[in-house]
Amino acid sequence: MADPFTLGVASGEPMPDGVLLWTRLAVDPLATDPARPGGMPPRAVEVDWQLAEDERFTRGLRQGRVNALPAWAHSVHVRVAGLAPGTDYFYRFRAGAEQSPVGRTRTADDPGSTRPVRFAVACCQRWEHGYYTAYRHLAAERPDVIFHVGDYIYESPQSAAVVRALGPLPGEADTLREYRLRYARYRTDPDLRAAHAAAPWVPTWDDHEVLDNYRGRGDGSAGFLRRREVAYQAYYENQPIRVRPQGGGLQMYRRRTYGTVADFMVLDTRQHRDATTMLGAAQEAWLLDRLRGSPVRWRVLVQPLFFARRFVPGPAPNLRTDAWDGHPAERARILAAGAPGLVVVSGDVHNAWAGELKADFLDPGSATVGAEFVCSSISSRPPATDGPAVLAANPHLEFFDGRRGYLSCVADPGELRVAFRAVDFVDRRDAPVRTVAEFRTDGSGLTSENASSK
Ligand SMILES: [Fe+2]
Repeated sequence: MADPFTLGVASGEPMPDGVLLWTRLAVDPLATDPARPGGMPPRAVEVDWQLAEDERFTRGLRQGRVNALPAWAHSVHVRVAGLAPGTDYFYRFRAGAEQSPVGRTRTADDPGSTRPVRFAVACCQRWEHGYYTAYRHLAAERPDVIFHVGDYIYESPQSAAVVRALGPLPGEADTLREYRLRYARYRTDPDLRAAHAAAPWVPTWDDHEVLDNYRGRGDGSAGFLRRREVAYQAYYENQPIRVRPQGGGLQMYRRRTYGTVADFMVLDTRQHRDATTMLGAAQEAWLLDRLRGSPVRWRVLVQPLFFARRFVPGPAPNLRTDAWDGHPAERARILAAGAPGLVVVSGDVHNAWAGELKADFLDPGSATVGAEFVCSSISSRPPATDGPAVLAANPHLEFFDGRRGYLSCVADPGELRVAFRAVDFVDRRDAPVRTVAEFRTDGSGLTSENASSK
């Protein structure tokens, strides 16, 4: 067998006592035969895994063997338990004579820990729009955990103008074969693989993992539900997540807690949605309960969509109904929960923003009840956006930047700091990275360190 580790390795779902290890075997990542995704034979393949406290795999070695099954595109999801909290670990896989690259992961902090938490946020990485250089810089930072807030792939047909071509099956993905191939194509990028190998990820999805701007059960047709089901299956096969899809759905919303410092509440703003609700009743009840009851310093909502009101001057529509501006009553209920230390991280709009969350967005004098940091895209092109005009029309928004990048954040018992990291170009490789702005919040407003735009 040729090298089956072309898609790299990953870890995810960090808990104080465990992590999930992932790989997916593919000897030929761009193979198009639906019976042999990744060019793999249609039979189970034995995979050995190892995890240790050092990169030479001598201290605290744990190991095991699992079967990679063709029904799950030869993906492997290994739950490792019994680990120490707040500790770095290294892991690798072996299949036949082939050994995978080594990944670094890290467990979440002990429930009583006050240690600062270093986390990053990324999203929106349309392959043909550019290189993933931002991920190489993010990998070098080796944060404790990386959150991905959606548009990991784009189901869309290849854009007219491409920096790099998709290759086989460049049309719109709507079958299991095509979704699997789209993930494999994206994972052939070495910088994306490096980011997965550098730290555990906690991903959530937005729309393009299935279909542009879809809501919940879409039009309710059997065709759409089948499409969503295979898209969710391909998502699971290609992400380091704990829970398998079941009955056409996939349990996505969850929390990951780091000591007494940060409660990350990862939301699903697609699967349970319809015209009347963004989250659905069960998820909203779970969220409000946790917001009110969480004993930690920072409550961080990890989700794709612009949360604050954003009025865009010019011709109607001035509010984007696919984001939280389409569900203002639900947003108001979340803000009214009175959760101290509320921070929202989001993405979707392919530009970077920062702002304050207000008790009443239409009253600049109303209480500030939190802060929002909107991650730009890794590579996806931004829409034409008049940043200064939008800032002027929305006094609670304080920062805009139009470059590609990610968020690099630290939460500690005193404050939460966010660095907006950006690359100047993605149409060729090797862009350097820079911090274009830094913000800090103590929970009652936002202080900019060096933001220049307002
Ligand atoms: Fe996007």
